[in-house]
Amino acid sequence: MAPVKIETTPPDRLQGDGMEALLRRHGRNPHALVQILREVQAHQTWLPRDTLSLLAHELGLTLAHVEGVASFYRFFHMQPVGEYRLLLSDNITDRMLGSEALLADLCQQLRVEPGRMRADGRVSVARSSCTGLCDQGPALLVNHHHVITRLDAQRVARIAELIEARTPVAAWPAEWFEVVDNIHRADVLLGTPQAPGVALAAALARGWQALLDEVKQSNLRGRGGAGYQTGRKWELCREAPGNTPDNTHYVVCNADEGEPGTFKDRVLLSRYADSLFEGMTIAGFAIGARQGFVYLRGEYRYLLEPLQAVLQRRREANLLGAAIQGREGFDFDIDIHVGAGAYVCGEESALIESLEGKRGTPRIRPPYPVEHGYLDEPTIVNNVETYCAVTHIAVHGAAWWAGIGTPKSTGTKIHSVSGDCERPGIYEYPYGTRIGRILEDCGARDTQAVQVGGPSGVCLSAFEFGRRIAFEDVPTAGAFMVFDRSRDMFEVARNFAQFFAHESCGFCTPCRVGTALVVKRMDKLAAGQGSRHDVDVLFELDKLMHTATHCGLGGAACNPLRDTIAKFRPAYEQRLTSLYFEPAFSLDAELSIARQMTGRDDPASHLEIVE
Ligand SMILES: Cc1cc2nc3c(=O)[nH]c(=O)nc-3n(C[C@H](O)[C@H](O)[C@H](O)COP(=O)(O)O)c2cc1C
Ligand code: SF4
Repeated sequence: MAPVKIETTPPDRLQGDGMEALLRRHGRNPHALVQILREVQAHQTWLPRDTLSLLAHELGLTLAHVEGVASFYRFFHMQPVGEYRLLLSDNITDRMLGSEALLADLCQQLRVEPGRMRADGRVSVARSSCTGLCDQGPALLVNHHHVITRLDAQRVARIAELIEARTPVAAWPAEWFEVVDNIHRADVLLGTPQAPGVALAAALARGWQALLDEVKQSNLRGRGGAGYQTGRKWELCREAPGNTPDNTHYVVCNADEGEPGTFKDRVLLSRYADSLFEGMTIAGFAIGARQGFVYLRGEYRYLLEPLQAVLQRRREANLLGAAIQGREGFDFDIDIHVGAGAYVCGEESALIESLEGKRGTPRIRPPYPVEHGYLDEPTIVNNVETYCAVTHIAVHGAAWWAGIGTPKSTGTKIHSVSGDCERPGIYEYPYGTRIGRILEDCGARDTQAVQVGGPSGVCLSAFEFGRRIAFEDVPTAGAFMVFDRSRDMFEVARNFAQFFAHESCGFCTPCRVGTALVVKRMDKLAAGQGSRHDVDVLFELDKLMHTATHCGLGGAACNPLRDTIAKFRPAYEQRLTSLYFEPAFSLDAELSIARQMTGRDDPASHLEIVE
């Protein structure tokens, strides 16, 4: 289908009093730019230049800056998009559940091409990175707000009808939007929730220094991937002097959860929000902060109102606000900032840039956020699960927590299990649990491989299922994707390569170019044009990107390749046509049009083939 030039005026353009009210609500704060853009777009579907220009003027920013920010995030549109914007989650687990066929079906029924808007401006359909619903996929995101789980052919057909009838999304069948928690194994965090305020009271009773000591002695390590010692991070932040006359410290919760296959924070946010907010408030007490932020990924926008309701309840119960639980001088509150579809914003310094209303480009580190974070002030960034864990340490103490798990990996870990198993969902285990045990519990059969920690993590083959989840053995940020023997591990690695290329922020050349080169080589192998040479090049790219990229995204981008080439070599070798270099296209074939035009087919009109 040829691209269609469309002249549309955005429906219901936000202007006048509406725009004024929105800007006033955000205090005309340029640091709220991402939130303002998100809300304006929610109103008028896309962000035309004159809107960006108006915002630049109102916020005292340049148009170039505002355009630079708007163009960075995938959920912002600077060109018209459909009145209905449909994004199909494109993790490998969605594909295993048939998402590609459903995408084709949806596009055919709506008469639209993937990535394009229909000529009448009614609808656009595209793929998105993992939406964090792998336990109930294939998943679909509508208008960057509503999520449809368990997509199937009937739902696709009905969606097409509803769109043609221009039925508002709010009137679509409610059961489509049902997101279930799927908790199959609970331990400390999921199984013993505390009443709101109990952990906070325990923390206040200890005093901030004793609390900090307790968190340090518990040896709690961050649950977001890197595994830095939480108590040490808090202590460094507490000790940092501050860099502006305000001398404010900040508590940030990383609820970006962009790693494909990870959805445990989704469940904590929807069912254990009190625990999260309480953990953040305890952190505020420990480091001397007055303000906290939750950075909620754009794909979890549907959780915003429920989370705000919990915050409000906590304010009314004096668990947030001024003089919390009657403690004079302890003032703390929490805001929620919604992301706009950029995986790199999970990297803590990129997250802070985004919180400040900028492009989510990772900062050069050091200095680290604990000294120079949000608005250049000392800031801690921790994962959702880390804050939840803190509430239990505040109540039961360091020794109790350290008694669970292994010496270097204390406490429990929550896993998001998906893929080829009978019971996908959430499983919490003490650290030190065997991979095989998790496979048994989730009903996995004939398992070929498990990807632990998402594409950035490790791929384990059957002979490694005796290994244990722990920082000293198999570390994880939470994803646990299961692949049985029917799966092609080359295609798994290729999906991950596409993910990294799609999500590279483009700031540094080794990652921007490297991730694209990896995809090209994988495509070449997939097309049956590969050679041993291509596999060697992939190894070289892995080495280069591990050492030369600016942030962890580029560094991890080749992990799945390295693991699958080493452990599932036949999946690659069956695609190799020769041991030597094979070009990705045939020069002789390229000349066929010229031959047709000149009516020639003699030997001289062909390229000589050297044996
Ligand atoms: C590309 C990239 C994406 C990341 N995404 C997340 C994320 O979604 N959630 C998270 O908690 N940490 C993520 N991290 C790790 C954070 O940078 C940071 O280490 C973490 O939030 C610290 O919290 P913790 O100490 O509680 O683990 C990511 C790191 C990188 C390099
Ligand atoms: S490694 Fe990739 S994601 Fe990270 S800064 Fe460089 S280009 Fe951006």
